[in-house]
Amino acid sequence: MKKVGIIGVGEYLPKKILTNADLEKMVDTSDEWIVARTGIKERHIAAKVEASSDMALQASLQALESARIKPQDLDLIIVATITPDMPLPSTACVLQNSLQAKKAFCFDVSAACAGFIYALTVAQQFIARGGCKNALVIGVEKLSSITDWKDRNTCVLFGDGAGAAVLSEVKSGGILSSYLGSDGSAGELLMVPAGGSRLPASHDTVDKRMHYVKMRGNELFKIAVVTMTHAAQIALKQAGLECKDVDLVIPHQANIRIIMAMAKKLKLCEDKIYLNIEKHGNMSSASTIIALSQAVKEGRVKKGDIILLDAFGSGLTWGACVIKW
Ligand code: ACO
Repeated sequence: MKKVGIIGVGEYLPKKILTNADLEKMVDTSDEWIVARTGIKERHIAAKVEASSDMALQASLQALESARIKPQDLDLIIVATITPDMPLPSTACVLQNSLQAKKAFCFDVSAACAGFIYALTVAQQFIARGGCKNALVIGVEKLSSITDWKDRNTCVLFGDGAGAAVLSEVKSGGILSSYLGSDGSAGELLMVPAGGSRLPASHDTVDKRMHYVKMRGNELFKIAVVTMTHAAQIALKQAGLECKDVDLVIPHQANIRIIMAMAKKLKLCEDKIYLNIEKHGNMSSASTIIALSQAVKEGRVKKGDIILLDAFGSGLTWGACVIKW
């Protein structure tokens, strides 16, 4: 099996910023509540005309440039998203066309907040087994398009953005391990009930606001802490490493309290955890890869560093991945 690593990263955040003060004018909430309960101060919101593939394109161009790979050299494009441009064609195919990456085969992965780690692991398998050489993996969300802006329980949490990574064979290091898991029995804790084959769009589903995210946050909170801790432990064990060996943890950015509770359980000090939740909120599939791209640009990731990606989301799904940079 070939060693596979990330050889370039990029990210894109839409221009518009929605602050907690803006939200105070929209629903019965306060900056104080949002900061204390979630750690979020602001989030980026895509323009009306900006679809997921548009954001993905910008992040991809940056990642390809940093990897020094041309779109024509891509063999595979995977887009992790729960907010595709449309049900079909896949956002990955739309992106392929924008990039003119004609050689690549393309598909989407739907695993919510764990989406990027799922897509990364799938791409790694293709390259490791010789099925392809260069892969582009994207996490992108326009969560503002499925957010109920009248529901204070959810609308304060989400943001939009895209992150991209180019994967290829590496001589040393790369992805050391990845652990993925799912539990469909708890799916109703976080869902968009309508818009699929179960409840196609109708006047009734629109009137009942069923095309928006419904979440039982309090129940999810506890599961998230336990699951992310467990996933990190398994991925590290598979890589033959311990928590003390990790240089930087990049957790999914759903709630600062979830991240800190997990850090406490893993006995991780705060300076080893990358946080961007304050400025971006929860961007589901896009969160971990945007954080990784920002961490690289800020010089927080150096050659030889051990990086742990860890995420949890709707499905339920979870995943953790250990990378030697
Ligand atoms: N402003 C003010 N008050 C609010 C707000 C708000 N925006 N939202 C809720 N409240 C109120 C509630 O109505 C409730 O009031 P009550 O006690 O009078 O009923 C009170 O605050 C406490 O509500 P809880 O839901 O218990 O608040 P909690 O501390 O659990 O925080 C939160 C809510 C932030 C959603 C948290 O539970 C959380 O982060 N959950 C996990 C989310 C998660 O991990 N999701 C998975 C990934 S996301 C994905 O896959 C797309």
